[in-house]
Amino acid sequence: MTGRPTLAVVGATGAVGTVLLRILSQRADIWGDIRLIASPRSAGRKLAVRGEEVEVAALAEEAFDGVDIALFDVPDEVAARWAPVAAAKGAVVVDNSGAFRADPDVPLVVPEVNPHAARRRPRGIISSPNCTTLTMIVALGALHAEFGLRELVVSSYQAVSGAGRAGVETLRRQLSLVAGTELGTSPGDVRRAVGDDTGPFPEPVALNVVPWAGSLCDDGWSSEEMKVRDESRKILGLPQLPVAVTCVRVPVVTTHSLTVHARFEGEVTVGKAREIMATAPGVVLCDDPAAGEFPTPADVVGTDPTWVGRVRRALDDPTALELFVCGDNLRKGAALNTAQIAELVAAEAD
Ligand SMILES: NC(=O)c1ccc[n+]([C@@H]2O[C@H](COP(=O)([O-])OP(=O)(O)OC[C@H]3O[C@@H](n4cnc5c(N)ncnc54)[C@H](OP(=O)(O)O)[C@@H]3O)[C@@H](O)[C@H]2O)c1
Repeated sequence: MTGRPTLAVVGATGAVGTVLLRILSQRADIWGDIRLIASPRSAGRKLAVRGEEVEVAALAEEAFDGVDIALFDVPDEVAARWAPVAAAKGAVVVDNSGAFRADPDVPLVVPEVNPHAARRRPRGIISSPNCTTLTMIVALGALHAEFGLRELVVSSYQAVSGAGRAGVETLRRQLSLVAGTELGTSPGDVRRAVGDDTGPFPEPVALNVVPWAGSLCDDGWSSEEMKVRDESRKILGLPQLPVAVTCVRVPVVTTHSLTVHARFEGEVTVGKAREIMATAPGVVLCDDPAAGEFPTPADVVGTDPTWVGRVRRALDDPTALELFVCGDNLRKGAALNTAQIAELVAAEAD
C-alpha cells in the first residue's frame, strides 16, 4: 500500500453497510478512494459518505481493481463466492459474514481483544465475529485477562436488525398491525393479526419473544448459538471453553442485550470486576441499580462501546460473576469492528 489506501464497501446499501458509511464519515479519515458496491439492483444509486455522494457499483471482478482493503457486508453465500475474488486481486478482505469465521486460516479479530491475530491471514481474509458474540466479547476479554475464564452461560435478547433490513421492516410492519389493539391476550391472536408473513423470524416478533435465531443445527441447537460458542472460543484462544447459550429475539430495533454468567479460575470480587469494566477500552460501566441505572437498548443504540451493568458475584459460587451487557449490533456488533480492523491493516503499512 502506498499513499492513502483505497477502500471498498461491499454491501453498502444493507443494514450494516448503511451504518458503516456513517462510521467512515465520523472516524479519522485515513482513506483515499472509498468505493461502494452492492447487487446489480442497487447499481447507480448514490449514497453519502464523508459528505460526498458516491455512486454504487454492481459487484463484479473489476470493482476490486486497485482496492487495498475490501469490507464485505453481504450474505454468507455472496461473501463465500466474492471474498476470495477480491483477495486474489490483492485486496485484504475484512468479512462480516459467517462464511469464513471457522476457517483455521482466517483470523477472527476483535481489535480490543486479539489485534495480533489480524497479521496472520494466509487467505488474505480476516473475519469479524457475529453480532451476539461481539456484544459481550470486549468485556469478557478484559475480565479473562485478569481472572482467567473457565465457563460461560449466556442468554441473548437480540434486536431485529440483527436479521438485516428485512428484520427491521418486519417488526415495523407488525407493530403497525398490532398498535392500539388488545392483542396479546389470547393464544394466536397476534399471529392472526400479523398474518403468515413473519419475515426472517419463525414467529411474530411484535408483542412477543422468540427463542430462536438462525438455522437448525444438531441436537436442537440454533446456528446463532453455535456461533457464539465457537467464535468466543476462537477469539479468546480457549478451544475447550464450556459455553452454554440460548439466543432469543425480542421486539427491539437495534442493540443486542445479553445476560452472562462467567466462571473464572479462582475467587473474584465485584470491586475488581467493576474496576476492570470501568477502565477497559471500549467498555462502559453503567451499574447503579439503587439509582435505576443499568444499560438498556433504548439508551445504548447508536453508541460505540459495550455497556455493562448489574455486576454481581454469583449467589452460590465465589468464582463466578453475573453481568447484563448491551451493545449496538450494527456498530460494535458489525460495522465498527470491521472499520477498526481495516484501520489496523492500514496501519501496518506505516
Ligand atoms: N445485521 C447485523 O446486526 C449483523 C451483525 C454482524 C454481521 N452481520 C452480517 O453482515 C452481513 C450483512 O448483513 P445486513 O444485516 O447488512 O444484511 P442486509 O441488510 O440484508 O444487506 C445485505 C447487503 O448485501 C447486498 N447483497 C445481497 N445480495 C448480493 C449480491 N448477490 N451481490 C452483491 N451484493 C449483494 C445487498 O445489496 P442490495 O441492497 O443491492 O440488495 C445489501 O447491501 C451478513 O453476512 C450478516 O450476517 C450482520
